Amino acid sequence: MKKRILFVCLGNICRSPAAQGIMQSLIDAEGLQDRFELDSAGLYGGHAGDLPDSRMRVHAYKRGYNLTHRSRQVRTSDFDNFDLIVAMDDSNYSRLKSMAPTLSDEEKVVRMIDYVKGFPQYDSVPDPYYEGAEGFEIVLDLLEDGCRNLLETLNQSSKK
Ligand code: 4NP
Repeated sequence: MKKRILFVCLGNICRSPAAQGIMQSLIDAEGLQDRFELDSAGLYGGHAGDLPDSRMRVHAYKRGYNLTHRSRQVRTSDFDNFDLIVAMDDSNYSRLKSMAPTLSDEEKVVRMIDYVKGFPQYDSVPDPYYEGAEGFEIVLDLLEDGCRNLLETLNQSSKK
């Protein structure tokens, strides 16, 4: 059975589609496509149907990630359809927890920053939408670190 992971931020045009793209490229590089299925979504539905923000696409492309996800809003059925729901910041995290239909669904919600090891000064993956270029770069730095550790954690736990 594939492990299904949903990455969630506010707009689903910056952080979560970048997380999805980074995680997918790690999975592809390790030949783990039959083990994982990824998607991303936003708590705010105002960008539904949009490609990722052009600034995020440019910054990600320079690191080798081609982001082609189309934004969509989180729905209650996501709690049935995914095994793990990865929130980018504390607001995303608490809103997802309060949306969860059951206690076991609530337990599927985790914070991306809890997998980030190399940036102790950050307690969330910060919203880059109103930031400059460095805001997008730090998001990518945090996500590359967090996705690598998340994949390692999932690989370890599947071996147990
Ligand atoms: P994201 O960034 O949550 O990382 O996709 C944002 C995108 C859009 C908005 C806010 C954050 N917005 O307010 O439209």
